[in-house]
Amino acid sequence: MMRTALRRVARQRCTRHASAASQQGGSGPLKLVAAGAAGAIIYFNNESIRGSSFYWSLADAGANLLREGISDAEDAHSYALQLLNLGLGPVAPKADTALETTVFGLTFAAPVGVAAGFDKRGLAHAPLGTMGFGFVEVGGVTPAPQPGNERPRVFRLKEDRAVVNFVGLPSEGAEVVAARLKSTEKTCVVGANVTKNAISKDAVADHARVVKALDGAVDFVVVNASCPNVKGGVVDVKAMAALVEVARKNTSVPVLLKVSPDLDERQRRTVANTALRLKLDGLVVANTTSRRPHRDSSPPLFKTPLLSPDVPDRGGLSGPPLVENTRAIVHDFYRKTKGRVPIVGVGGVSSADDAYALIRAGASLVQLYTALVYHGPGLGCEIRDGLVERARRDGFERVRDAVGADHRR
Ligand code: FNR
Repeated sequence: MMRTALRRVARQRCTRHASAASQQGGSGPLKLVAAGAAGAIIYFNNESIRGSSFYWSLADAGANLLREGISDAEDAHSYALQLLNLGLGPVAPKADTALETTVFGLTFAAPVGVAAGFDKRGLAHAPLGTMGFGFVEVGGVTPAPQPGNERPRVFRLKEDRAVVNFVGLPSEGAEVVAARLKSTEKTCVVGANVTKNAISKDAVADHARVVKALDGAVDFVVVNASCPNVKGGVVDVKAMAALVEVARKNTSVPVLLKVSPDLDERQRRTVANTALRLKLDGLVVANTTSRRPHRDSSPPLFKTPLLSPDVPDRGGLSGPPLVENTRAIVHDFYRKTKGRVPIVGVGGVSSADDAYALIRAGASLVQLYTALVYHGPGLGCEIRDGLVERARRDGFERVRDAVGADHRR
């Protein structure tokens, strides 16, 4: 009966569900979840069951349990990753061919991916691909292992459906992550987000090392020049070229550069000129913001006040408050680079409308992280389906035909 009731409420396509990414909780509910997971492995380790709307609903229910039951957001996230890694993630239908796109020489089944930070260790890219994401950016990965900042370091701003983190790039180190990635089957395009060790004084040498270690393990590399949570994490725009150049010398795969949403117009011009001069494979626009409503700049990032009480002053803020700024800077970078440098749009995407707006502004690919925490794993498929609908509504046969459409009006 319960099954019938769930079926009744389940949507036909991938039903949205609350991921693990940042729910909160304690150890009692975790044991329950672990026991449930063990049982579920036995009963549901079957692709057709995991592709049913019943199973997507069940995944929603499990994710809600994690979110409501686990008080530390980072713990909840790591339990969710473990559940995915156990093979309990839902299975998406094959992507519509209208979603397929080729960017920086790689073919993506769908232009919707998971942003850096979600799968830092490279544990869950395969189930995320199976859940319908076209690509996963694993990491940040540093050359040597490092612990990151002290916990707690991830905080939900529930009223804003946002997150503040000052995780500080914990990493097992490039060799461990590379070995894991090499030994796992890939179900989508897999990139790595790379950065220097926090205590290192030689960012160039660190980038050479991290990229070399990951060569052969990933399809593309993203130089993270924009982490607000470690010393030296936000790289001066003039120093970015050296990092990209050394990364290129040490890898055979495309190299992209991830920038901060807090760059001003002049800094964006410098980055765009560098990207054109280096014939950069792509720009990832953008990371979390260090800004807050009481220390915003012009033009303001925060269009409305934050609703959540006790917003940490330190750390990078992500989620819906970013999305209009993301659209504006994607549009600006596309214009400044004359559409010649592929853009990955990320920051605040939580619906097909958001994703489509970034694509029309100039993003060839979009990513999300925070919205998965609040909406659940089905959001990826929901956005995929919504993109096809919106592109067709605007007269485009394929979603990729809509890239940069706002510049052609
Ligand atoms: C991140 N993000 C991130 N970015 C990056 O380049 N390297 C990293 O290691 C991380 N780590 C990380 C951890 C956590 C907990 C969060 C919430 C975010 C930033 C992320 O990739 C993305 O750029 C922003 O979160 C904005 O997108 P969303 O979350 O609004 O969709």
